Amino acid sequence: MKVFSGSSNKPLAEKITKSLNTLISPLEIVIFPDGERRVRVTDRVVDEDTVIIESTSPNPDTHYMELFFIVDALKRSGAKSITAVVPYLGYQRQDHVFRDGEAVSLEVIIETLEAVGMDKLITFDLHSIKIPELFSIPIVHLSALPIIAEKIKEIATPHFLKDTILVSPDMGGIRRIKILSELLSNMPFISIVKDRDLVSGDIKSNRIDSASSGWKKRVKRAIIVDDMISTGRTIASAVDLLVKNGIEENIVFATHPVFSNDAKNILQNLRASKIFVTDTIDVPEEKRFGKLEILSISEMIAKELE
Ligand code: R5P
Repeated sequence: MKVFSGSSNKPLAEKITKSLNTLISPLEIVIFPDGERRVRVTDRVVDEDTVIIESTSPNPDTHYMELFFIVDALKRSGAKSITAVVPYLGYQRQDHVFRDGEAVSLEVIIETLEAVGMDKLITFDLHSIKIPELFSIPIVHLSALPIIAEKIKEIATPHFLKDTILVSPDMGGIRRIKILSELLSNMPFISIVKDRDLVSGDIKSNRIDSASSGWKKRVKRAIIVDDMISTGRTIASAVDLLVKNGIEENIVFATHPVFSNDAKNILQNLRASKIFVTDTIDVPEEKRFGKLEILSISEMIAKELE
């Protein structure tokens, strides 16, 4: 098996290949002055199983184009199979028509990846469990929830578990929070009902789901868990709401650190003691901040590839 890396998340590719006791195979990626990319496989891949690791954030368009070209180059060079490891699958929030006349961007991406020759996809914590149904090829949908559960157990004391509640910042995350609750011996959970403006993306209102009655009793600490943090506004409004409801300590977990716009400042200044994310997306030094901790998904991917 030969493992290649695109340019979006080399640190993750290095960790995965280290776990697999191998090296990243050479790949030439040239960027022309106008921004176009040329990709060339310089290793021999005839009849080899190949793996390409490429996250699609930041700059989803650039990294998708790069991924399409790498898959095409591997196919033309005679690879027996091409598995794409795309830990963060960009455009996943555009998986159906929300308003008349819209493109279903994720479907376009999937059709293109399949057309250029991808045989299998390995990815993490998709926004919706229906997304795998959009693929015609095999897809392995992994989750960072077991890693998150382990981290919660590591930081928790018996007292901590008694006065803590899990929180989904929107109803879309309720399935995720139920799974995490089961991994943590049925830890209690609640959900926030978030209403977003479909045009501006602004959060219009935020309230605790009325089905979660009686949750305030003895609860001092909230562990908020989301699939991704982009602008940070979802997490910020969840924290504000929880603080207004008497929560003294907030701890945040999210799989994908998209960190767009002013996310770093919003997150650093939140009334949250810690923010844990994973390395599905590389967080460069300039986007890191004091209370951020990055957990690695590399071992899970390596095990899947073994
Ligand atoms: C939305 O449904 C997702 O689960 C996330 O809550 C959302 O994408 C986070 O985006 P932002 O950080 O921009 O609020």
